Order: sequence, then structure tokens, then C-alpha cells
Amino acid sequence: MAVVVLVLGVLFVLCFCSALLRWNEMRYRKKGLPPGTMGWPVFGETTEFLKQGPNFMKNQRARYGSFFKSHILGCPTIVSMDPELNKYILMNEAKGLVPGYPQSMLDVLGNCNIAAVHGSTHKYMRGALLSLISPTIIRDQILPKIDEFMRTHLSDWDNKVVDLQEKTKEMALLSSLKQIAGAESVLISPTFKPEFFKLVLGTLSLPIDLPGTNYRNGLQARKNIVSMLRKLIEERRASKEDHQDMLSCLMRNEENRYKLTDEEIIDQIITILYSGYETVSTTSMMAVKYLHDHPRVLQELREEHLAIRERKSPGDPIEWNDLKSMKFTRAVIFETSRLATIVNGVLRKTTHDMELNGFVIPEGWRIYVYTREINYDPFLYPEPLTFNPWRWLDKRMESQSYLFIFGGGTRQCPGKELGIAEISTFLHYFVTRYRWEEVGGDKLMKFPRVEAPNGLHIRVSSH
Ligand code: HEM
Repeated sequence: MAVVVLVLGVLFVLCFCSALLRWNEMRYRKKGLPPGTMGWPVFGETTEFLKQGPNFMKNQRARYGSFFKSHILGCPTIVSMDPELNKYILMNEAKGLVPGYPQSMLDVLGNCNIAAVHGSTHKYMRGALLSLISPTIIRDQILPKIDEFMRTHLSDWDNKVVDLQEKTKEMALLSSLKQIAGAESVLISPTFKPEFFKLVLGTLSLPIDLPGTNYRNGLQARKNIVSMLRKLIEERRASKEDHQDMLSCLMRNEENRYKLTDEEIIDQIITILYSGYETVSTTSMMAVKYLHDHPRVLQELREEHLAIRERKSPGDPIEWNDLKSMKFTRAVIFETSRLATIVNGVLRKTTHDMELNGFVIPEGWRIYVYTREINYDPFLYPEPLTFNPWRWLDKRMESQSYLFIFGGGTRQCPGKELGIAEISTFLHYFVTRYRWEEVGGDKLMKFPRVEAPNGLHIRVSSH
């Protein structure tokens, strides 16, 4: 009897689940939507997406083509894996394809954050940002700060086991902070750093505003960071001292083409810190990982940097011409970003019902412009799973139209050259000063983000 009840129970559960899935599919069986599956009510296919990672995307593409619907991370979503369409989506924000980042990210990063603004406001905020990081400013003001920072940051690693992930994260944050707040950055960094790390966690959380949640902590961290920056702005106004850094450029209202309110200045600073944080730190960490695993690449990179050092006295900083001569380093950075896929794609959402690729996409649906697979296309990158920086020495590679490592269209990364300058300077001091070996046993995750859950430990000694 018990067996019969058990079998009936299992049958009932199976029937119920299958009916639920069917009902959920029917809800979305509106005419005109792309093919695909929507999974469970509320949860959609998030579990499969996170568990199977890139394979989930590849399987769905094999069944439904390069443009399919799903329900992931709490939203009905269209996944676009078609390079031509991806280009079209990124170029056509004006047609209603605006950034579609999660609510928690927008709440924590602020209303004037670049991802939260569209149209003319976006143009204005982007223009203001670009004016802070023009090639001339990088050459004259930012590069000397990066150089000074990297020398100190990399000064005492000899004979130590360091967690490279922790060090590159710290490097990305504190180097940006120095570019923003010059000398004062050293004073504020001990209080700033823990708040910033909480802010980052808050942007990646579910928007549940309860005590102890990452979201609540992220909002609180934002408040603390805003008050620290506001205090800094007020002190600078009171002292009237002249500074040569990003904050002083943002505050110089009279001569500035872009006049920002204090609220906009603060959100612009948070944008710069946040956008360059994980991208620069993870690329730097993965570059070191690949260099460790590919001694021939390391040798060529080291030769490039030792040649630069030979032209200089020991204390001389890296200058613009040195940076421009780092052709192989640049190639290593591009190959690292490609092979590790630091950025899987970007998110957009529709502001109204619209036709796309012959389908109708409802208002408010998210579009995941998923660019990861392009990085492993054997027609674009022969032997795509091999770490081969030499492929980037052909200059045409950087301008090919399907390269989305730094995004594309109207929101293409404005910090690309700044990021490359930071990573190059970091690699310069790292490979000219040190040898290293991995302690071993550390796990590396590639999806949904590239990270070492328990750190990436290396044993460092002088070169
Ligand atoms: C290796 C380093 C970097 C990588 C791989 C990278 C990648 C990207 C990508 C893929 C996008 C497009 C996002 C989208 O379309 O929604 C983007 C946008 C952006 N990046 Fe970067 N980035 C890097 C470094 C930096 C740095 C150092 C900064 C600092 C200024 C920065 C600032 C930004 C900003 C502000 C945007 C938004 C632009 C807009 O919405 O108009 N990035 N980045």
C-alpha cells in the first residue's frame, strides 16, 4: 500500500511540475516572440543558466538559433548571440535600446550614474568623463600618478606569498582613487576601501532591503562614500588650493565646458571607480596567470620591459613613449581579455514594444547582448583556446567590427586606454622586479564572473 501511495505521490508531483512549466510557457506564447523556453514561474531558467554557464547558452542556441527568449536573473530576457544583431543593438540606443542593468546596481551607483542616464544627459555625462581622461591628460597627469602608485604597490612583495586577486583588486581601486583625489587619496583610502567593497557587493545583490543583506549594506556604503566625497569637495572649496587631479577638473566649473552639480560629480567619481575596478583587476590577475602558464610569452614580455628599463635610470618613471612602445604587452592584455572573457556581454532593455530581427520584443524586456562566443570563433581566432598574444600584433585585429571586449556603439568603453595604461604599468613593475610561482590548489571560476573564490596565491621572489 505504502509503495502505491509513494508512486501516486511521485506521479502527482511530476504531473504538477509539468503542468506548471506548460502553463508558464503558455503565458509567454504571445505571437511574435522569438523561440525559447521560460522555465519556472518567477525563477525562470536562472538555476540552469548559473549551473551550466556558457553551455546553457550554447545548448539553447543549438535548439532555437542565435536569438532566443528565456527568463534569467528575475527578468524575461532575449539572448542575442548574433554578431550583426549585437552590433545593431549597441548602435541603436536612440531607438529605445537603453542599458538594462539590475535595479540593485542602479540604486547603489546613483541616479546620475552613466548606466542610469540616457539621451542628451548620457551624452553630457559621457563628454564630461571623456574630458577627464583624454590622451593628453593621461600622458601629462594620470600616467605619472599610475607610475608612482604601482612602484609603491609592488615594492614589498619579495619573499612573500601574496593573494594576487586581493592585490590586483586593491591596485585597481587605489590607483583610481589616486587619479581622482591625488594626495588626499592616501588619507581617505583606509576608510574608503571597506565601504567600496561593500558597495560593489551591493550592486551584485538581489534588491531586498532588509538588515544584513548585501543590498542594504551596499546602500549604506553608498551613503558613507557620498558623505566622504562631499566632505572632500567642501574642504577643497574652503582651502582654494590648486590640485591636479580628476576631482579638481570636475570642480573647476568656470573654465569647464561640462558643468556638473555636486551630486553629478560624486556619481561620476563612483562611476569611474566602479567601471574600472573589476575589469582592470581581473584582467591583471588573469594576465599574470597566463604568463605563468606560458613561459615563452613571459620571456618576450619581460624582454620588452627590460629593454625599456635599459633606456632609463633605475628611478625613472614610465612615460607616454614607453607606454606606446609596449606593443607586446598590449597584445597580452587583449589576448587575456579574449581568452578569459572578462566581460561576457552587456545588458540592454526595451523602452517600448519593438520589432527586432523579425520578432516583437515587449516593452521592458531585457536583452542580453551575449558576446562571449565571438571570443572563441575559430574563423576570427584560429585555435581559439590557445593563449597566443602574437595574433594581436596584426593591428587590424583591434579594429575588426566584431570585437566587443570593450563593448561597442554609443556606450563603448571610454576608459579603454586608461585601463590598458594601468595594466601595462602594473605588468612592467611586476615582471621586471619579480619571479613567481603559484602556490597551487586555488580554484578559478570562469562563469558568471572570472574569479578565484579563495584567492590566487603566488610565491614571489626578486628577479
Ligand atoms: C580592461 C579594462 C576594461 C574593460 C574590459 C572594460 C569593458 C567595458 C565594457 C564591455 C563596457 C560596455 C558596457 C555597456 O555597453 O553596457 C564598458 C563601459 C564603460 N567603461 Fe569600461 N572597461 C575597462 C576599463 C575601464 C576603466 C579603467 C574605466 C574608467 C574610466 C571604464 C569606464 C567605463 C564607463 C564609464 C563605461 C560606460 C560608458 C557609457 O555608458 O557610455 N572602463 N567598459
